[in-house]
Amino acid sequence: MDIEMKELYGRIDRLTGISRGFQGAAVLAAGVECGIFDFLDKKPADPALAARELGLDPRAVDIVLHALAGMGLLELEDGLFRNSPLADELLVRGRAHYQGDIIGHSARLIRRWVQLPSVLRTGKPAAGPRSTDDRESRKDFILGMSNIARLSARKIAEVIDLGSARRMLDLGGGPGTYAITFCSINPGLTAVVFDLPEVIDEITTGQVAAAGLGERISFIRGDYLENDYGRDYDLVLVSNIIHSLGEPRIREMLGRCRRSMVPGGRVVVKDFLLDDDRVHPAFGSMFAVNMLVGTEAGGCYTVSEIAVWLGDAGFGQVELREISPQARLLVAVRP
Ligand SMILES: C[S@@+](CC[C@H](N)C(=O)[O-])C[C@H]1O[C@@H](n2cnc3c(N)ncnc32)[C@H](O)[C@@H]1O
Repeated sequence: MDIEMKELYGRIDRLTGISRGFQGAAVLAAGVECGIFDFLDKKPADPALAARELGLDPRAVDIVLHALAGMGLLELEDGLFRNSPLADELLVRGRAHYQGDIIGHSARLIRRWVQLPSVLRTGKPAAGPRSTDDRESRKDFILGMSNIARLSARKIAEVIDLGSARRMLDLGGGPGTYAITFCSINPGLTAVVFDLPEVIDEITTGQVAAAGLGERISFIRGDYLENDYGRDYDLVLVSNIIHSLGEPRIREMLGRCRRSMVPGGRVVVKDFLLDDDRVHPAFGSMFAVNMLVGTEAGGCYTVSEIAVWLGDAGFGQVELREISPQARLLVAVRP
């Protein structure tokens, strides 16, 4: 093959690789949902045994196990499949860095993403149930937040000088992972997790009890667009909340945060904050599409935009901190 053809094949592969991305996502999510990685953690198995013990169809299991091995998530030796080191670390329920809940959440989102052409025509979010509508989706969504937050919570604690905080609000705190991690690190801290009643009752209370922090973490069940946030916080965390709202709601929210805080208190806004070009980090410009298909007015915002809105809400000393290549945060002080 001449050089030109080789390069053309390379470009076509790159493009069609993008268009086939959903296939790997679907195979991975099915593996998690059907318990394949949990099962193979107990013992290596051939497809017939895995199908029998998991109550699945033998032909389907045979095909999917081979595809999972092709993706590097399983290993095949002498006709037996076992988890690869990657699957062993991240895809077996109960492991410290388990990612299965967020993978289940992402799989549900596919139903919205495929409606993107109609969203482009109408500007309205995709039809269908939302991540917080039913119990099962809520569980994947909220515990998925915990899969992600477990690592970033420690990193945030490092970059914000958590030691000086005494009373914290975890706004839209979901599983309460930030409140739990911060209280575990700082014994002088108490926290309030504010979220929707069903989220607090079905998930957050259980997470806090399991962490043994029931005496230091309390809850406000409410709507953060309508209800009071409480008073006297010296630390308010707004993590991965603003991307589901448009500018006017975010401005209102920042004002409510300021009114709930003591002078000298700090607000921390964490999100997939964009550079001024609105393209980079590329994770953020793609995540904005998730908000386009899922919400009326959400999106990803630039560091400069949020800094202006924080200033307008009455905060000063706005500083940018990086916690991962995708996620950054702005810390600001209530004068
Ligand atoms: C993307 S999650 C972020 C969770 C957590 N802050 C984190 O960063 O891991 C958004 C959270 O906001 C909550 N939420 C959404 N709408 C809300 C509302 N109107 N009032 C209170 N909480 C809400 C959801 O239940 C969910 O826990």
